[in-house]
Amino acid sequence: MILNSLLPSASTYAGDIDTLFDVITLLVGVPFLIASFLFFSFILRFKKKEGVDSMYISGTEHQYMKWIHRAHVPILVFDVIIVVMAVNVWYDVKQDLPEAASTVRVTAQQWAWTFTHPGPDNVLDTADDIRTVNELHVAKDTLYHFKLESLDVLHSFSVPVFRLKQDAIPGRVITGWFEPTLAGDFDIQCAEICGIGHGLMPAKIHVESPGQHAAWVKAHNPLALAAATSSAPPELESKVRKETNRLAAR
Ligand code: CUA
Repeated sequence: MILNSLLPSASTYAGDIDTLFDVITLLVGVPFLIASFLFFSFILRFKKKEGVDSMYISGTEHQYMKWIHRAHVPILVFDVIIVVMAVNVWYDVKQDLPEAASTVRVTAQQWAWTFTHPGPDNVLDTADDIRTVNELHVAKDTLYHFKLESLDVLHSFSVPVFRLKQDAIPGRVITGWFEPTLAGDFDIQCAEICGIGHGLMPAKIHVESPGQHAAWVKAHNPLALAAATSSAPPELESKVRKETNRLAAR
């Protein structure tokens, strides 16, 4: 409701996190406003008056204690509601790992992101992997796992439209997941102070339709690109061979 109006939600769990924000804002914000109103109105109402002595109240008498208990009960109930909802969302986003259709590697370093896409065979760490710097390409409505690594210091992989944020820790491979639900180009930003260039560590995520994404993968297949550059036209090849033979014969 509140977050959604400021920033599009573009992953399957973004809505759950937005709902959690709304519930917390409501359950904490409304009691805060009521308490603030009472606090300031009592200050004004019971300010020093000529000829009126102040009354000493210890607050331990039953008639005063009941006002503390009555306010305490709903606050405790709100706490339980927030904790239960938060644990549920946390479990779905961070603890549970649904089956993925594809896996990408996200490598952070001072101060850039390297993304390794699995390429046409959809398997990471094979010769057709597509590596890019500061741009991640994914297909809409496809569940991805990401393997997050850091080459040097702590970084944090933050995709605000997915409501996804995960620290990258040197020496560890952290696996997480997301499923984009909205096509478009969105921001990625490092969200952990990682040195002087921390603010210069943005990247882009390009969420494409499955067809567009397949076309991108095909156009960037490193094996096809290598084959295309190594095969020179035949007439050029025979010319080179003739020239080589002529030089060798001398
Ligand atoms: Cu990387 Cu901040």
